[in-house]
Amino acid sequence: MEVIISQDPSSASILAARLIAKLVKIKPHAVLGLSTGSTPGDLYKELIRMHQAEGLDFSRVRTFNLDEYIGLPPDHPASYHSFMMKNFFRDVNIPHGNIHIPDGLASDVSSHCEAYEQAIRDAGGIDLQILGIGSDGHIGFNEPGSSLASRTRIKTLTPGTREDNARFFGKPEDVPHHVITMGIGTIMESRTLALLAFGEGKAKAVGGAVEGAISASNPATVLQLHPNAKIYLDEPAASSLERIDYYKWVFQNKPAWQADL
Ligand code: GLP
Repeated sequence: MEVIISQDPSSASILAARLIAKLVKIKPHAVLGLSTGSTPGDLYKELIRMHQAEGLDFSRVRTFNLDEYIGLPPDHPASYHSFMMKNFFRDVNIPHGNIHIPDGLASDVSSHCEAYEQAIRDAGGIDLQILGIGSDGHIGFNEPGSSLASRTRIKTLTPGTREDNARFFGKPEDVPHHVITMGIGTIMESRTLALLAFGEGKAKAVGGAVEGAISASNPATVLQLHPNAKIYLDEPAASSLERIDYYKWVFQNKPAWQADL
């Protein structure tokens, strides 16, 4: 696990965007795993800037989103389809057919989830998965108690997550109870994981994820088992880490040959 602590969300997001840009330049047909929520906003803005100002080309990139609410049509303002169109896809040149987001209206959810897994395999697997973290440690929508080996499937949101996400809906009771999410096992097969977390509200979850005991009760702890996981934090999100000074020293003193930014 590499813990990268920046002064603010914007600088952290620029570092994460550079990692993605480097991958896309080396491998133009890269498969990206994408996430939603407030956290990746600056990351998408920086990727859009790189596309528009520097010609970063996404024309062969394939994408798979982590999750979607069940019951919301793609054009619902709070759907993750809408989020992705508004915050990223409409401003870059990823062909529509290369974009995959779970279908919240699938009539047969189990078959849809199996097909989603198959589509990831057919694409050659995910090269780099962007992740956020819920205040309870969830990744994607894998709530505490999710099997650490789980695959794409239906999940039921906890009351806490529905409350956290109520800001995207007109009324709190409008937040769906059910979602489709890539499983933790699915996420762990990505070749690289880049988790972003900003703000004091994430400090406890981040502390557990990076330095706590691995447990399904805090799904993000599973990243400790991944051979190439990068954790991009701002200072407040890093504030509960015991080894904070060590992580900073490591990052500032990386040998030049090892730097990937
Ligand atoms: C939702 C998403 C997660 C995201 C989390 C944190 O639950 N399904 O993928 O990481 O929210 O969201 P935010 O970035 O808004 O704090």
